Amino acid sequence: MALLGFLYTMSYIAYKHLHTSFAVLSIVFFIIRAYWSVLERSCLHNRFVRIAAHVLDTLLLLSGLGMAFMLGFTHFWLIAKIIGLLCYIYAGVYAVRLGRTPHSRLFAAIVAILIYCYVVGVAITKSAWSFFG
Ligand code: HEM
Repeated sequence: MALLGFLYTMSYIAYKHLHTSFAVLSIVFFIIRAYWSVLERSCLHNRFVRIAAHVLDTLLLLSGLGMAFMLGFTHFWLIAKIIGLLCYIYAGVYAVRLGRTPHSRLFAAIVAILIYCYVVGVAITKSAWSFFG
């Protein structure tokens, strides 16, 4: 029983490390793509970067959900994180693809980064108020 508890804790810690790494890689890839998009650089269509960004966001969500299932969906801050991630992804898509002008894409990129900071705040404080609580 103690061994099972130990393995459970270790896999939770492993998930958390993976999740934090995906979170860092996700924002790094996003900033690179948003920069290319605002400056209208052709490398924005680089296949590797585009696919890697989608894979990272999916892994970020899956690793977060994996831990959320282990914790049980009883915490409101977990819901806030899921909504935050969806808003971050939508603002990100607008910044790199949907925005018609460089200004609108820049605005969307700033919004996406602010949402990302809010979600990091939720992760650290374990409160939907994030850094404002
Ligand atoms: C933009 C999206 C996200 C970012 C930037 C992010 C970031 C982070 C960071 C930095 C941590 C580590 C916090 C610490 O060390 O105390 C963390 C932990 C965690 N995240 Fe996320 N996360 C995101 C999305 C999600 C989603 C969608 C879920 C699923 C509901 C989730 C669930 C969790 C859980 C359960 C923890 C562990 C909390 C703990 O035990 O300390 N995250 N997240």
